[in-house]
Order: sequence, then structure tokens, then C-alpha cells
Amino acid sequence: MIKLFITATDTDAGKTYVAQALTSALVKQNYRVAVFKPISAGCRLVHLPEGDVLINEDAEQLMYQSNCSQSITEINPIAFQPAIAPHIAAKLIDTEITMSEIHASYKHIVNRASDCLITEGAGGWRLPLGNGKYLSEFVQLTEQKVILVVNMKLGCLNHAVLTYETIIADGLDCIGWVANCPEPMAYLSENISELKTLISAPLLAQLGFQTDISKAASVIDLSPITKLL
Ligand SMILES: Nc1ncnc2c1ncn2[C@@H]1O[C@H](COP(=O)(O)OP(=O)(O)OP(=O)(O)O)[C@@H](O)[C@H]1O
Ligand SMILES: [Mg+2]
Repeated sequence: MIKLFITATDTDAGKTYVAQALTSALVKQNYRVAVFKPISAGCRLVHLPEGDVLINEDAEQLMYQSNCSQSITEINPIAFQPAIAPHIAAKLIDTEITMSEIHASYKHIVNRASDCLITEGAGGWRLPLGNGKYLSEFVQLTEQKVILVVNMKLGCLNHAVLTYETIIADGLDCIGWVANCPEPMAYLSENISELKTLISAPLLAQLGFQTDISKAASVIDLSPITKLL
């Protein structure tokens, strides 16, 4: 089984979009793909007969593309209603985000023995959990392969290089990056060329504005992933 962690240069950079496209592409090749969104902030409260549940849109979108019949709470065990930094949302309701809870939820999905387990991070690489911990420590603990989504806009070179260098300094393997360009950027190809020289992991895809996930999925180079399967 390959375990992938999707991180990005920032929030709103395209992590869910790329995670959906990767899931779709792998499912199309008949792989069993499970998904995980450990922490979300920005959820709607839904009243169900079995109790209230907080539903996060990212988790729903990942669920629609995947093929392991997971429940929404299995996919997203830690959910907060307000769209604010998760550790602050936790504090507001007198709770804490613990590494052991994230890890236990993850192990449960690992035990499903899918071919691929795709996890979407939250925010950027150094997402604080509170108490001095970061979500990146979970990625280290579980030895996931990292995919970096770069939101192509002015300022992204700095964000991309800092993120990439930190992933490597954390002892992790970045197996590819995606240039996500939903909006026009001046000198896009020059910026991508520069990043290709600065990031020594393969460019998996250059994605333009595309609302059809299966079309975005079709241009991803899956070979760095499928060679590990
Ligand atoms: N290439 C693209 N084409 C069209 N829409 C896109 C593209 N990339 C991202 N989007 C849209 O931009 C918005 C932000 O992207 P997305 O939700 O994937 O970011 P994110 O990194 O997952 O954000 P968050 O940190 O909130 O989880 C979404 O509405 C998404 O559908
Ligand atoms: Mg997201």
C-alpha cells in the first residue's frame, strides 16, 4: 500500500482539488483508494437520527471520488464548525487536538488494506495542532510520501521552496509536485521552469482552470506513484 499526503503552499491552494484528481485517476486504473482528511475547520452541522455530525466539504468531495465505502466520520474524524485555525477552534470548545487521536483514526483506515491511502492536510505544511505540535509530525510518524501542490501566483516561488525544503529537512520523501494554475499568471511557464530547477521532485501535472475533475485527472503523470504500488 502506498500512503500519500497532499500538502500545499497555503490554504486554498488546491489540495482537495488535486487529491480528488489523484483519487479519480487511480480509481480509473482499478486501484482501491481510501481517503483521509484528519482535521477540518469550516463544517456544517447536520442533524441525523444517530446524532449530530459536522460535515466538511473537502471530506465529502474526497469520499465521492474514492472507492472504499468509508463513512464521512471515518474520512474526517476531527471537525470544527468555524473556518478558523483548527487548534483555535478546538480551544473555543475546550478541547485539544491530539496526535494519538489522529494516529488511531489513520491506523483504522490503514487496516482496510487499500492499494493507496490519500490524506489531505490542512492549511500548509506547518499546521499547528496546539501544544507545540504540528500536523507534519503525523506525516513523519506514519512515513507518508508527500505531494506538494503549488498555487501558481506571484509569491509562490518562495512559498514552494520553503515548503519543499522543510519537507526534505523533516526527513520525508516528496515524490512529486503539482503546478496548480486556476487563475492566469504572468510568465507562468518561466515560473514553472524556475520551480523545476529548485524542486528536485518530478512535476506530476500542470493544471489550468478545469471544473471537470476527471479531465484534470487525465493529465496527471501517475508513474512516480504507480511504480511504488
Ligand atoms: N485547477 C483548478 N480549476 C478549477 N478550480 C480549482 C482549481 N484548483 C482549485 N480550484 C478551486 O479553488 C478552490 C480552492 O481549492 P481547494 O479547495 O482544492 O484548496 P485547498 O488547498 O484544499 O483548501 P483548504 O486549505 O481549505 O483545504 C476550490 O473551490 C477548488 O474547487
Ligand atoms: Mg481542502
